[in-house]
Amino acid sequence: MVEITGTTRLYGILADPIHHVKTPQMLNAFMAQEGIDGVTVPMHVGADDLAALMAGLKHMKNLGGLIVTVPHKTAVLDLCDEVTDSARRIGAVNTIRRTADGRLIGEMLDGKGFVGGLIAGGIAPEGRSAYLAGAGGAANAIAFALAQAGVSRLTIANRTRAKAEDLADRLKDAFPGLQVDIGSPDPSGHDIVVNATSLGLRDGDPLPLDADRLAPEQIVAEIIMQPEQTALLKAAAARGCRVHFGKPMLACQRELMAAFLELSAPAGTAE
Ligand SMILES: NC(=O)c1ccc[n+]([C@@H]2O[C@H](COP(=O)([O-])OP(=O)(O)OC[C@H]3O[C@@H](n4cnc5c(N)ncnc54)[C@H](OP(=O)(O)O)[C@@H]3O)[C@@H](O)[C@H]2O)c1
Repeated sequence: MVEITGTTRLYGILADPIHHVKTPQMLNAFMAQEGIDGVTVPMHVGADDLAALMAGLKHMKNLGGLIVTVPHKTAVLDLCDEVTDSARRIGAVNTIRRTADGRLIGEMLDGKGFVGGLIAGGIAPEGRSAYLAGAGGAANAIAFALAQAGVSRLTIANRTRAKAEDLADRLKDAFPGLQVDIGSPDPSGHDIVVNATSLGLRDGDPLPLDADRLAPEQIVAEIIMQPEQTALLKAAAARGCRVHFGKPMLACQRELMAAFLELSAPAGTAE
């Protein structure tokens, strides 16, 4: 880690609870490796105090930016001075850059990270059909990113059907040419099958979809990082499917966050 001095820029991650976050370790390792004079620290704040904290942080001249995670990704959208078009459409923000004049600019990188991780793994979504289990925060971001990446059609299946319908309506508004359907637990007939629910985190969770309907030509992708081998991925591999883990989504987000936060070392100092 670089030495913290009077010139060090501060980055924070906003969460509640916060003990489990991995972003400070990830960004601090990146900044140390690149010779960037910055540090990322956890900022534990509850939902009731989020607005007050954000209003104060705007005035902190050496704040470089913020990472935002559960449960603040939606609420923080309206606390930014400006958000990107994609964050506005998704309805959530997970990365905020503070400009020199104190403006907070929000972006949502979960979905772009997922798609970037897929592509880095040699799986191009363009022209392929996709099945998405889930309609929560991560699923919303992934749905928009898959649409942006040019999937041929998208099926959304969620326990709470109304949330899937709401997501499908917003996708159709943003991508009028895209076929978007509401699905059942049966993922058959899709090239790429994505679990974007929180099922798989805990031992004994039910599978997020009917794995008996998977066929060997399908690719099954996870967003759950821990455990790496979820019950869904084990079932998919047993049926001959190619599997894609949850970790590349975060690895790709590191690159995207660094670019959006404009993390770079002064010329000539990077190792
Ligand atoms: N790899 C990465 O970089 C990365 C990044 C972000 C998030 N994640 C992971 O993504 C997961 C989801 O995060 P999120 O922010 O989208 O959470 P969220 O907004 O709370 O959404 C949770 C989703 O899971 C579904 N679900 C939860 N329990 C269920 C159950 N018992 N049966 C059926 N469906 C269930 C929910 O369905 P309902 O709508 O019916 O409640 C909803 O679709 C988290 O576990 C997180 O670890 C990974």
